[in-house]
Amino acid sequence: MSATTKVPGAQRYLPEKRTLSALRVAAAGCHGCELYRDATQTVFGEGRRGAPLMLVGEQPGDQEDRQGHPFVGPAGRLLERAISDAGIDPGLVYATNAVKHFKFTRREGKRRIHQKPGRTEVVACRPWLIAEIDAVGPQLVVCLGATAAQSLLGPAFRISTGRGELIEVPGRSGPPVLATVHPSAVLRDRTDRAAAYRAFVSDLRVAGGAVTEQNSTVV
Ligand code: URA
Ligand code: SF4
Repeated sequence: MSATTKVPGAQRYLPEKRTLSALRVAAAGCHGCELYRDATQTVFGEGRRGAPLMLVGEQPGDQEDRQGHPFVGPAGRLLERAISDAGIDPGLVYATNAVKHFKFTRREGKRRIHQKPGRTEVVACRPWLIAEIDAVGPQLVVCLGATAAQSLLGPAFRISTGRGELIEVPGRSGPPVLATVHPSAVLRDRTDRAAAYRAFVSDLRVAGGAVTEQNSTVV
């Protein structure tokens, strides 16, 4: 491949030094797919290196895009409550997204409507997620919703059949993954939102429990 060939995806924006702070700076300039064009900014993950639990959402929403931080909107508030109800210390959590720019369409007026990122964007952005997993070194990665789960487990993965279990990522020696629903799906549930919330908390409790067990075997 010649030096001038345009490599799609985030890979060519990755810095040589893969610390979290170097990754964050580099991701701010990523043009690995089209989404950077209309979004306000790259929303990188937050938390500390060594955080045992990494939570991966889909992509920043409207509020996240404006503020530059993950999970600061309505889904983030529900997630925060669920983490607490699952008995997880928020200090153990690193939170990020499978895709780091907000994808939206504009409706009449200025309202920006969330659009689900496509497979191309998910694959384009995956190098940042993989680099974050390597830099943070979590014991477990919790995928919130199908976009995050399919980024790591492949497009055939279904939350409906695979949620709540520890799964090894095929072809990678990293931490296992546990998939659950996205907090927005709980907010949108019209059938039985309380049950959806309880099932979400229950999955998070499994995740928290897995980390605690592993913690006690380390040291
Ligand atoms: N939804 C996500 O998936 N991520 C966020 O950061 C906010 C909402
Ligand atoms: Fe880069 Fe990901 Fe943003 Fe696309 S969504 S420009 S790959 S950071």
